[in-house]
Amino acid sequence: MFKPQLLFQAIRTIPPRLRVTGAFDARPAFLGTRYISVSRPLLEKKTPEDDHDGHDSASTAAPPGASGDQEGSLSRTDDTVRVQYPEEGDLPRSRPVSGRGGPHAKRTLASFSLEGRVAVVTGGARGLGLVMSQALVNSGADVALVDLNKEEAERSAGELVKTFQTENPDADRLPKVTAHFADVSNPTSVNDSIAEILQAHGKIDNLVTSAGFTENFNAIDYPYDRMKKLWGVNVDGTYLFAVGVAKHLMERQSPGSLVFIGSMSGSIVNVPQPQAPYNAAKAAVRHLAASLAVEWAHAGIRVNCISPGYMLTALTKKILDDNPELAKTWTSLIPQGKMGRPEDLMGAVTFLASDASLYVTGADLRVDGGYTTT
Ligand SMILES: NC(=O)c1ccc[n+]([C@@H]2O[C@H](COP(=O)([O-])OP(=O)(O)OC[C@H]3O[C@@H](n4cnc5c(N)ncnc54)[C@H](O)[C@@H]3O)[C@@H](O)[C@H]2O)c1
Repeated sequence: MFKPQLLFQAIRTIPPRLRVTGAFDARPAFLGTRYISVSRPLLEKKTPEDDHDGHDSASTAAPPGASGDQEGSLSRTDDTVRVQYPEEGDLPRSRPVSGRGGPHAKRTLASFSLEGRVAVVTGGARGLGLVMSQALVNSGADVALVDLNKEEAERSAGELVKTFQTENPDADRLPKVTAHFADVSNPTSVNDSIAEILQAHGKIDNLVTSAGFTENFNAIDYPYDRMKKLWGVNVDGTYLFAVGVAKHLMERQSPGSLVFIGSMSGSIVNVPQPQAPYNAAKAAVRHLAASLAVEWAHAGIRVNCISPGYMLTALTKKILDDNPELAKTWTSLIPQGKMGRPEDLMGAVTFLASDASLYVTGADLRVDGGYTTT
């Protein structure tokens, strides 16, 4: 970034004889006559006594702290903030939501239906991925849940079907929901998983990439192997699965819709917890969606991104129960004043996966209670 001090220093090194405005007069005439005039009062530091109207102490002219302790306090990360992520075994299980999938007689657009589609959801065993899978099932799709934790994915697949059955006792067909292992950051594992899904379902029409995680270390102390892992799952994982599914769609000469789960962190910098690699990874996910949307538009493959704000999943609830101050800071920064429910993503993912969004590609749909607008 350009620093005014550097300009000041550079100008100070110009011999005094040339330091006057006239030195700039030597510029070629074609540059015009409206040159920058560097006059002495701008270059000389004022003393505090010169700051009669308090203007300098509230501006960049003042040293840090000159206008009070509050300087930057609501918009900086804090290296002392340590968010403890629970171990896998300490997390309450995610369960399908109820009361949102039954038969209804309210009219709605047929283009939102996913009847006859097969959708793959990575990270679908729990959290946001599980609830988005349920939205796809309720909208008519068969779903393949892909997760590092296959056991959990199997349990969730069973519960999705059971919940559907309870809420749709007269349904003439039950959705097919299968569970598959993959480490999304590993190309071989991704390819094997896609092959297994194709064996089970015969085709893939939609992809939702929800496998991902965040971590908080300040940038100076971030262990490099952890950073690589984070990028591997969030960025490589999204890319590898997208390419695998796009290849299949192109071979089948079929249109399709891919939805990447980014985060508002891809557009803003969260405070106070430091998480530079996660923020950058989610920015990469968002731009990957835009880039692949352009690259695959010719094949009728749409690629969009959903950027959730702070959502209250089993994981974030546990973290906030342990850190009530953090909960206060987060909710104070959200215009709607509340964290989102995973269910708040159900409409967004159905819209982007379905024909209701046929002319939407490369978009980033922020579902964040207004966080990124302020
Ligand atoms: N929860 C939030 O507030 C929030 C906000 C914005 C974005 N997001 C993003 O949404 C996505 C889902 O988050 P969540 O809160 O549901 O998290 P979660 O931890 O509850 O679920 C993530 C799932 O991904 C799986 N997973 C992790 N690494 C994997 C790998 N290498 N291969 C396959 N599966 C893997 C986990 O086993 C888990 O089932 C993530 O990408 C996250 O960054 C979450």
